[in-house]
Amino acid sequence: MATPVLTFFNNKGGVGKTSLVYHLTWMLSLLGVRVLACDLDPQANLTALFLGEDELESLWEDGDATKTIYQAVKPLTAVGDIKDPRIHFASDTLGLVPGDLALSSFEDNISSEWPNALGEKNLYRPFRIATAFWQVMQKTAESMNASIILVDVGPNLGALNRSALIATDYIIAPLAADIWSLQGLRNLGPTLRQWRSEWKKRRENWNNPEFELPSGAMQPIGYLVQQHSVRLGRPVKAYDKWAKRIPEAYARYLLNHDNHSYPNSPTNDINCVATVRHYRSLVAMAQEARKPIFLLTQADGAIGGHSTAVSSAYEDFRRLADSIQKRAKFDQA
Ligand SMILES: Nc1ncnc2c1ncn2[C@@H]1O[C@H](COP(=O)(O)OP(=O)(O)O)[C@@H](O)[C@H]1O
Ligand SMILES: [Mg+2]
Repeated sequence: MATPVLTFFNNKGGVGKTSLVYHLTWMLSLLGVRVLACDLDPQANLTALFLGEDELESLWEDGDATKTIYQAVKPLTAVGDIKDPRIHFASDTLGLVPGDLALSSFEDNISSEWPNALGEKNLYRPFRIATAFWQVMQKTAESMNASIILVDVGPNLGALNRSALIATDYIIAPLAADIWSLQGLRNLGPTLRQWRSEWKKRRENWNNPEFELPSGAMQPIGYLVQQHSVRLGRPVKAYDKWAKRIPEAYARYLLNHDNHSYPNSPTNDINCVATVRHYRSLVAMAQEARKPIFLLTQADGAIGGHSTAVSSAYEDFRRLADSIQKRAKFDQA
């Protein structure tokens, strides 16, 4: 059976997607879940959180080894087939398929083969390219016996992300309480519906698939609201103004629900998985130490008040991991 894929997606950048994937994969693995993180953002920010600069450099240099997602799918741009990437293990139970700046060049291949999946013959290649990310992630997850795959993507609605999303079972939308996130939801809903239906048409067109295909469910299972702006000088009033419109926007645009009655705040909305606190100086400290905020120690500089903040961050993420595990229904070891 395929390993479930959970993608953090929103066509707005800077809402904490990458940071959430990093912290949640770490927390899940600490809770005993075998987890695979996959960096499908060509900016490779997630990979940079896991690896130091020297390690990054050696990932991206040309060579025979297959060390990134791009190197795994690259043979498809010529006459070859998908390769198995080497997993970067952050811990025994946490693997990463590293990202790659060169991944953006694969977008052209995805775009040009997409119409061909509706053709009458030679369907192997168009489907291989359209599902390349899913194939790589599934095979890699299986090799490490992972229960869940968490995916980080860039903030746009192009062909690369369409491929990431047809590989996706569950979506969580990280949001900020501002006009850009609200507007983002308006674009996201119709785009997801279009991608689902385009993928369904293609699947129905291939009567006898020669390899397994993803379902393309892309089921939204909730949103997260960043509390940042409250602390960073924007008045609480501005935060509240946008925050109270989130429940309706999420239900209307992402779930296509039109029930005329919506909660007036994310705090009493069942679709709100959590609000994410601003961790202030712990963020820089954690990046410096190259570990999650909740694993900072005194040796990393987390003393006094910081140490209390580290413990409460641990609790925040433990609860968040628990709640996501219930929504996405994957196995907890
Ligand atoms: N909970 C948080 N508290 C403080 N800073 C955060 C938090 N989450 C993210 N950030 C910071 O905000 C910036 C954007 O976050 P990032 O995860 O890269 O967002 P995205 O992937 O959506 O673009 C980064 O500098 C990150 O360190
Ligand atoms: Mg990011």
